[in-house]
Amino acid sequence: MDPWEQLAWPTIWDELFTRKAPLVLEIGFGNGDFLVEMAKRQPEKNYIGIEVSWTSIQHLLKRIDQTDLPPIRVLQGDAVALLECLFASNTIDEIYVNHPDPWRKERHWSRRFIQSKNVALLADRLKPQGRLTIATDHQAYSEWISDVLTGQSDLVSEYAPKAEVSDLPERIRTKYEMKARAQGIPIHYFVWKKERPPAHEFLAPKEYEMPHVILKVQNPALGLEQVFSDMDPDSWQETHRGVLVVVKVVEAYHRAGSRDGLVEVLVKEGNLTQHFGITIAFRQSDELLVKLSSMGHPRPTYGVKQAVWNIARLLTRKRADLTVLSSTVGPLHST
Ligand SMILES: C[S@@+](CC[C@H](N)C(=O)[O-])C[C@H]1O[C@@H](n2cnc3c(N)ncnc32)[C@H](O)[C@@H]1O
Repeated sequence: MDPWEQLAWPTIWDELFTRKAPLVLEIGFGNGDFLVEMAKRQPEKNYIGIEVSWTSIQHLLKRIDQTDLPPIRVLQGDAVALLECLFASNTIDEIYVNHPDPWRKERHWSRRFIQSKNVALLADRLKPQGRLTIATDHQAYSEWISDVLTGQSDLVSEYAPKAEVSDLPERIRTKYEMKARAQGIPIHYFVWKKERPPAHEFLAPKEYEMPHVILKVQNPALGLEQVFSDMDPDSWQETHRGVLVVVKVVEAYHRAGSRDGLVEVLVKEGNLTQHFGITIAFRQSDELLVKLSSMGHPRPTYGVKQAVWNIARLLTRKRADLTVLSSTVGPLHST
Protein backbone atom coordinates (compact mmCIF):
# COMPACT_ATOMS: atom_id res chain seq x y z
CA MET A 1 0.00 0.00 0.00
CA ASP A 2 1.23 3.46 -0.80
CA PRO A 3 1.50 5.93 2.10
CA TRP A 4 -0.29 8.59 0.13
CA GLU A 5 1.18 11.50 2.09
CA GLN A 6 4.51 10.69 0.45
CA LEU A 7 3.27 10.48 -3.13
CA ALA A 8 3.68 13.42 -5.52
CA TRP A 9 0.82 15.95 -5.64
CA PRO A 10 -0.51 15.20 -8.18
CA THR A 11 0.85 11.70 -8.84
CA ILE A 12 1.65 10.58 -12.38
CA TRP A 13 -0.16 7.25 -12.11
CA ASP A 14 1.18 5.74 -15.34
CA GLU A 15 4.68 6.10 -13.88
CA LEU A 16 3.68 4.48 -10.60
CA PHE A 17 2.01 1.57 -12.40
CA THR A 18 5.00 1.52 -14.81
CA ARG A 19 2.64 1.24 -17.76
CA LYS A 20 0.34 3.55 -19.70
CA ALA A 21 -3.22 2.26 -19.38
CA PRO A 22 -6.75 3.51 -18.74
CA LEU A 23 -7.16 4.48 -15.08
CA VAL A 24 -10.12 3.14 -13.08
CA LEU A 25 -10.94 4.35 -9.57
CA GLU A 26 -13.33 2.88 -7.02
CA ILE A 27 -14.26 5.01 -4.01
CA GLY A 28 -15.29 3.16 -0.83
CA PHE A 29 -14.56 -0.38 -2.10
CA GLY A 30 -15.76 -2.18 1.08
CA ASN A 31 -14.79 -5.85 0.83
CA GLY A 32 -13.05 -5.19 -2.52
CA ASP A 33 -14.99 -7.82 -4.55
CA PHE A 34 -16.03 -5.31 -7.20
CA LEU A 35 -12.50 -3.97 -7.69
CA VAL A 36 -10.96 -7.45 -7.86
CA GLU A 37 -13.58 -8.71 -10.32
CA MET A 38 -13.13 -5.64 -12.55
CA ALA A 39 -9.37 -6.19 -12.57
CA LYS A 40 -9.85 -9.86 -13.49
CA ARG A 41 -12.25 -9.04 -16.33
CA GLN A 42 -10.18 -6.20 -17.80
CA PRO A 43 -6.56 -6.74 -16.80
CA GLU A 44 -5.35 -4.22 -19.38
CA LYS A 45 -6.44 -1.31 -17.13
CA ASN A 46 -4.80 0.24 -14.03
CA TYR A 47 -6.94 0.16 -10.85
CA ILE A 48 -6.97 2.29 -7.73
CA GLY A 49 -9.19 1.73 -4.70
CA ILE A 50 -9.76 4.34 -2.01
CA GLU A 51 -11.14 3.41 1.40
CA VAL A 52 -11.23 4.99 4.84
CA SER A 53 -11.68 1.67 6.64
CA TRP A 54 -8.41 -0.03 7.62
CA THR A 55 -10.21 -3.37 8.07
CA SER A 56 -11.44 -3.23 4.45
CA ILE A 57 -7.97 -2.30 3.25
CA GLN A 58 -6.30 -5.16 5.10
CA HIS A 59 -8.86 -7.57 3.66
CA LEU A 60 -8.22 -6.42 0.09
CA LEU A 61 -4.42 -6.33 0.49
CA LYS A 62 -4.47 -9.95 1.66
CA ARG A 63 -6.40 -10.96 -1.46
CA ILE A 64 -4.09 -8.99 -3.74
CA ASP A 65 -1.08 -10.73 -2.13
CA GLN A 66 -2.59 -14.18 -2.48
CA THR A 67 -3.70 -13.93 -6.10
CA ASP A 68 -2.09 -13.18 -9.39
CA LEU A 69 -4.09 -10.01 -10.08
CA PRO A 70 -3.32 -7.16 -12.45
CA PRO A 71 -2.05 -4.07 -10.63
CA ILE A 72 -4.40 -2.61 -8.06
CA ARG A 73 -3.18 0.29 -5.90
CA VAL A 74 -4.86 0.87 -2.58
CA LEU A 75 -5.03 4.22 -0.83
CA GLN A 76 -6.32 4.82 2.68
CA GLY A 77 -8.01 8.14 3.41
CA ASP A 78 -10.89 10.41 2.62
CA ALA A 79 -11.63 10.23 -1.10
CA VAL A 80 -12.17 13.99 -1.44
CA ALA A 81 -8.77 14.92 0.03
CA LEU A 82 -7.06 12.22 -2.02
CA LEU A 83 -8.76 13.31 -5.25
CA GLU A 84 -7.73 16.90 -4.57
CA CYS A 85 -4.09 16.07 -3.82
CA LEU A 86 -3.13 13.03 -5.88
CA PHE A 87 -5.10 13.26 -9.12
CA ALA A 88 -4.61 15.86 -11.85
CA SER A 89 -7.49 17.17 -13.96
CA ASN A 90 -8.51 14.98 -16.94
CA THR A 91 -6.68 11.83 -15.81
CA ILE A 92 -9.26 9.20 -14.76
CA ASP A 93 -11.22 7.09 -17.26
CA GLU A 94 -13.82 5.54 -14.93
CA ILE A 95 -14.91 6.34 -11.39
CA TYR A 96 -17.20 4.01 -9.39
CA VAL A 97 -19.00 4.98 -6.20
CA ASN A 98 -20.90 1.86 -5.15
CA HIS A 99 -23.46 2.23 -2.37
CA PRO A 100 -22.04 5.30 -0.65
CA ASP A 101 -23.22 5.64 2.97
CA PRO A 102 -26.74 7.17 2.79
CA TRP A 103 -26.53 9.06 6.11
CA ARG A 104 -30.23 8.65 6.78
CA LYS A 105 -30.77 11.36 9.41
CA GLU A 106 -31.34 14.85 8.04
CA ARG A 107 -28.76 16.40 10.35
CA HIS A 108 -26.11 14.12 8.74
CA TRP A 109 -26.99 14.82 5.10
CA SER A 110 -24.02 17.19 4.77
CA ARG A 111 -21.79 14.11 5.20
CA ARG A 112 -23.15 12.44 2.07
CA PHE A 113 -20.37 11.86 -0.45
CA ILE A 114 -22.52 12.81 -3.41
CA GLN A 115 -22.67 16.60 -3.09
CA SER A 116 -22.48 19.21 -5.85
CA LYS A 117 -18.93 20.24 -4.94
CA ASN A 118 -17.71 16.62 -4.88
CA VAL A 119 -19.34 15.86 -8.23
CA ALA A 120 -17.61 18.96 -9.68
CA LEU A 121 -14.29 17.60 -8.37
CA LEU A 122 -14.96 14.13 -9.81
CA ALA A 123 -15.90 15.70 -13.16
CA ASP A 124 -12.68 17.71 -13.19
CA ARG A 125 -10.57 14.58 -12.53
CA LEU A 126 -12.33 12.51 -15.23
CA LYS A 127 -10.87 12.49 -18.73
CA PRO A 128 -13.08 13.85 -21.52
CA GLN A 129 -15.64 11.06 -22.23
CA GLY A 130 -14.77 9.54 -18.83
CA ARG A 131 -17.64 8.00 -16.83
CA LEU A 132 -18.88 8.30 -13.27
CA THR A 133 -21.03 5.34 -12.13
CA ILE A 134 -22.94 5.54 -8.85
CA ALA A 135 -25.11 2.78 -7.40
CA THR A 136 -27.43 2.94 -4.41
CA ASP A 137 -30.17 0.80 -2.93
CA HIS A 138 -31.43 3.68 -0.81
CA GLN A 139 -34.52 5.30 -2.34
CA ALA A 140 -34.15 8.71 -0.63
CA TYR A 141 -30.44 8.91 -1.41
CA SER A 142 -31.17 8.02 -5.05
CA GLU A 143 -33.51 11.04 -5.25
CA TRP A 144 -30.79 13.20 -3.68
CA ILE A 145 -28.18 11.88 -6.17
CA SER A 146 -30.56 12.49 -9.06
CA ASP A 147 -31.09 16.11 -7.91
CA VAL A 148 -27.33 16.71 -7.52
CA LEU A 149 -26.54 15.28 -10.97
CA THR A 150 -29.35 17.00 -12.84
CA GLY A 151 -28.45 20.27 -11.09
CA GLN A 152 -24.94 20.38 -12.57
CA SER A 153 -23.68 20.76 -16.12
CA ASP A 154 -20.24 19.10 -16.13
CA LEU A 155 -21.58 15.57 -16.66
CA VAL A 156 -24.46 14.27 -18.77
CA SER A 157 -26.48 11.10 -18.29
CA GLU A 158 -25.49 8.19 -20.51
CA TYR A 159 -29.20 7.27 -20.52
CA ALA A 160 -30.60 10.80 -21.05
CA PRO A 161 -33.31 11.90 -20.65
CA LYS A 162 -33.31 9.39 -17.77
CA ALA A 163 -31.01 10.22 -14.85
CA GLU A 164 -30.83 6.60 -13.68
CA VAL A 165 -31.56 3.03 -14.76
CA SER A 166 -32.62 -0.05 -12.81
CA ASP A 167 -29.85 -2.34 -14.09
CA LEU A 168 -26.68 -2.25 -16.15
CA PRO A 169 -25.47 -4.83 -18.69
CA GLU A 170 -22.60 -7.00 -17.38
CA ARG A 171 -22.76 -5.26 -14.01
CA ILE A 172 -20.56 -6.73 -11.25
CA ARG A 173 -22.64 -6.93 -8.07
CA THR A 174 -21.14 -5.60 -4.84
CA LYS A 175 -21.78 -7.09 -1.41
CA TYR A 176 -24.36 -4.40 -0.59
CA GLU A 177 -26.03 -4.86 -3.92
CA MET A 178 -26.42 -8.61 -3.59
CA LYS A 179 -27.89 -8.22 -0.11
CA ALA A 180 -30.40 -5.61 -1.31
CA ARG A 181 -31.37 -7.66 -4.37
CA ALA A 182 -31.92 -10.74 -2.25
CA GLN A 183 -34.42 -8.70 -0.22
CA GLY A 184 -36.14 -7.42 -3.38
CA ILE A 185 -34.91 -3.84 -2.88
CA PRO A 186 -34.45 -2.02 -6.22
CA ILE A 187 -31.03 -0.63 -7.10
CA HIS A 188 -30.57 2.78 -8.72
CA TYR A 189 -27.69 3.11 -11.18
CA PHE A 190 -26.39 6.46 -12.43
CA VAL A 191 -23.93 6.54 -15.33
CA TRP A 192 -22.85 10.07 -16.18
CA LYS A 193 -20.29 11.06 -18.79
CA LYS A 194 -17.96 14.04 -19.14
CA GLU A 195 -18.79 15.65 -22.47
CA ARG A 196 -17.44 19.15 -21.94
CA PRO A 197 -14.69 20.82 -19.88
CA PRO A 198 -15.98 21.39 -16.34
CA ALA A 199 -16.92 24.84 -15.10
CA HIS A 200 -14.38 24.72 -12.24
CA GLU A 201 -10.80 23.56 -12.12
CA PHE A 202 -9.55 22.04 -8.87
CA LEU A 203 -5.82 22.35 -8.34
CA ALA A 204 -3.86 20.21 -5.88
CA PRO A 205 -3.00 22.21 -2.72
CA LYS A 206 0.07 24.39 -3.28
CA GLU A 207 3.28 23.35 -1.54
CA TYR A 208 5.73 25.91 -0.18
CA GLU A 209 9.36 26.01 0.85
CA MET A 210 9.99 23.97 4.05
CA PRO A 211 8.98 26.44 6.77
CA HIS A 212 11.27 27.42 9.62
CA VAL A 213 11.78 30.40 11.93
CA ILE A 214 14.95 31.31 13.80
CA LEU A 215 14.42 33.14 17.08
CA LYS A 216 17.08 35.25 18.75
CA VAL A 217 17.43 34.41 22.45
CA GLN A 218 18.22 37.61 24.34
CA ASN A 219 18.47 35.96 27.75
CA PRO A 220 21.44 33.53 28.10
CA ALA A 221 19.75 31.85 31.07
CA LEU A 222 16.65 30.86 29.09
CA GLY A 223 16.08 27.08 28.95
CA LEU A 224 13.60 25.03 26.94
CA GLU A 225 11.74 24.20 30.19
CA GLN A 226 10.57 27.83 30.33
CA VAL A 227 9.81 27.97 26.60
CA PHE A 228 7.69 24.81 26.78
CA SER A 229 5.88 25.92 29.92
CA ASP A 230 4.36 28.68 27.73
CA MET A 231 3.07 26.21 25.14
CA ASP A 232 -0.56 25.59 26.11
CA PRO A 233 -3.04 23.92 23.72
CA ASP A 234 -4.16 26.70 21.42
CA SER A 235 -5.79 27.09 18.01
CA TRP A 236 -5.95 29.61 15.19
CA GLN A 237 -8.14 29.83 12.16
CA GLU A 238 -8.32 31.91 9.00
CA THR A 239 -9.73 31.69 5.50
CA HIS A 240 -7.12 31.44 2.78
CA ARG A 241 -8.20 31.54 -0.88
CA GLY A 242 -11.73 30.59 0.15
CA VAL A 243 -10.59 27.59 2.25
CA LEU A 244 -10.97 27.47 6.04
CA VAL A 245 -7.57 26.75 7.62
CA VAL A 246 -7.53 25.58 11.26
CA VAL A 247 -4.27 25.10 13.19
CA LYS A 248 -4.50 23.35 16.55
CA VAL A 249 -1.71 22.76 19.09
CA VAL A 250 -2.57 19.35 20.53
CA GLU A 251 0.29 18.83 23.00
CA ALA A 252 3.86 19.95 23.67
CA TYR A 253 6.57 17.51 24.75
CA HIS A 254 9.91 18.33 26.32
CA ARG A 255 12.21 16.13 28.40
CA ALA A 256 14.00 17.98 31.23
CA GLY A 257 17.58 18.85 30.25
CA SER A 258 17.04 18.12 26.53
CA ARG A 259 18.03 20.80 23.95
CA ASP A 260 14.99 20.13 21.81
CA GLY A 261 11.28 19.42 22.16
CA LEU A 262 8.25 18.69 20.03
CA VAL A 263 4.88 20.37 19.53
CA GLU A 264 2.13 18.09 18.21
CA VAL A 265 -0.06 19.96 15.74
CA LEU A 266 -3.22 19.29 13.75
CA VAL A 267 -3.86 21.34 10.60
CA LYS A 268 -7.14 21.18 8.70
CA GLU A 269 -7.35 22.91 5.30
CA GLY A 270 -10.67 22.19 3.64
CA ASN A 271 -10.78 18.39 3.26
CA LEU A 272 -7.10 17.87 4.00
CA THR A 273 -6.02 17.07 7.58
CA GLN A 274 -2.36 16.80 8.57
CA HIS A 275 -1.21 15.65 12.02
CA PHE A 276 2.48 16.21 12.60
CA GLY A 277 5.23 17.60 14.83
CA ILE A 278 7.06 20.92 14.99
CA THR A 279 10.50 20.82 16.58
CA ILE A 280 11.78 23.62 18.79
CA ALA A 281 15.54 23.27 19.31
CA PHE A 282 18.57 25.29 20.33
CA ARG A 283 20.65 25.89 17.19
CA GLN A 284 23.28 27.84 19.07
CA SER A 285 23.22 29.08 22.65
CA ASP A 286 21.52 32.31 21.52
CA GLU A 287 19.30 30.95 18.71
CA LEU A 288 16.20 28.79 18.75
CA LEU A 289 15.00 27.00 15.63
CA VAL A 290 11.28 26.33 15.04
CA LYS A 291 10.90 23.89 12.15
CA LEU A 292 8.90 20.97 10.79
CA SER A 293 9.72 17.58 12.26
CA SER A 294 9.62 14.60 9.89
CA MET A 295 7.13 12.98 12.31
CA GLY A 296 3.82 12.57 10.46
CA HIS A 297 5.45 13.33 7.07
CA PRO A 298 3.81 16.76 6.73
CA ARG A 299 3.58 18.43 3.34
CA PRO A 300 4.47 22.13 3.47
CA THR A 301 1.04 23.48 2.58
CA TYR A 302 -0.20 26.95 3.50
CA GLY A 303 -1.68 25.68 6.79
CA VAL A 304 1.51 23.86 7.79
CA LYS A 305 3.54 26.99 7.04
CA GLN A 306 1.13 29.03 9.18
CA ALA A 307 1.43 26.49 12.02
CA VAL A 308 5.20 27.01 12.20
CA TRP A 309 4.76 30.78 12.03
CA ASN A 310 1.99 30.87 14.66
CA ILE A 311 4.03 28.82 17.11
CA ALA A 312 7.07 31.04 16.65
CA ARG A 313 4.86 34.14 17.10
CA LEU A 314 3.23 32.62 20.19
CA LEU A 315 6.68 32.27 21.78
CA THR A 316 7.74 35.82 20.94
CA ARG A 317 4.44 37.19 22.28
CA LYS A 318 4.79 35.31 25.54
CA ARG A 319 8.48 36.03 26.05
CA ALA A 320 10.11 39.43 25.63
CA ASP A 321 13.53 37.70 25.50
CA LEU A 322 12.69 36.01 22.15
CA THR A 323 12.56 37.89 18.84
CA VAL A 324 12.33 36.73 15.19
CA LEU A 325 15.80 36.72 13.61
CA SER A 326 14.90 35.18 10.26
CA SER A 327 12.15 33.08 8.76
CA THR A 328 10.90 31.40 5.59
CA VAL A 329 7.31 32.09 6.70
CA GLY A 330 5.25 34.95 8.10
CA PRO A 331 3.71 38.06 6.56
CA LEU A 332 6.53 38.58 4.02
CA HIS A 333 6.04 35.04 2.72
CA SER A 334 2.27 34.82 2.79
CA THR A 335 1.41 34.31 -0.91
C1 LIG B 1 -22.00 1.25 2.43
S1 LIG B 1 -20.35 0.80 2.20
C2 LIG B 1 -20.32 0.14 0.53
C3 LIG B 1 -19.16 -0.79 0.29
C4 LIG B 1 -19.04 -1.34 -1.14
N1 LIG B 1 -18.84 -0.29 -2.11
C5 LIG B 1 -20.24 -2.19 -1.51
O1 LIG B 1 -21.04 -1.74 -2.35
O2 LIG B 1 -20.36 -3.30 -0.99
C6 LIG B 1 -19.55 2.38 1.98
C7 LIG B 1 -18.03 2.30 2.02
O3 LIG B 1 -17.48 3.57 1.72
C8 LIG B 1 -16.39 3.83 2.60
N2 LIG B 1 -16.28 5.29 2.69
C9 LIG B 1 -17.14 6.15 3.30
N3 LIG B 1 -16.75 7.41 3.17
C10 LIG B 1 -15.59 7.38 2.43
C11 LIG B 1 -14.70 8.38 1.98
N4 LIG B 1 -14.91 9.67 2.24
N5 LIG B 1 -13.62 8.00 1.27
C12 LIG B 1 -13.39 6.69 1.01
N6 LIG B 1 -14.21 5.70 1.44
C13 LIG B 1 -15.30 6.04 2.13
C14 LIG B 1 -16.78 3.14 3.89
O4 LIG B 1 -15.67 2.84 4.70
C15 LIG B 1 -17.49 1.88 3.37
O5 LIG B 1 -16.59 0.81 3.20
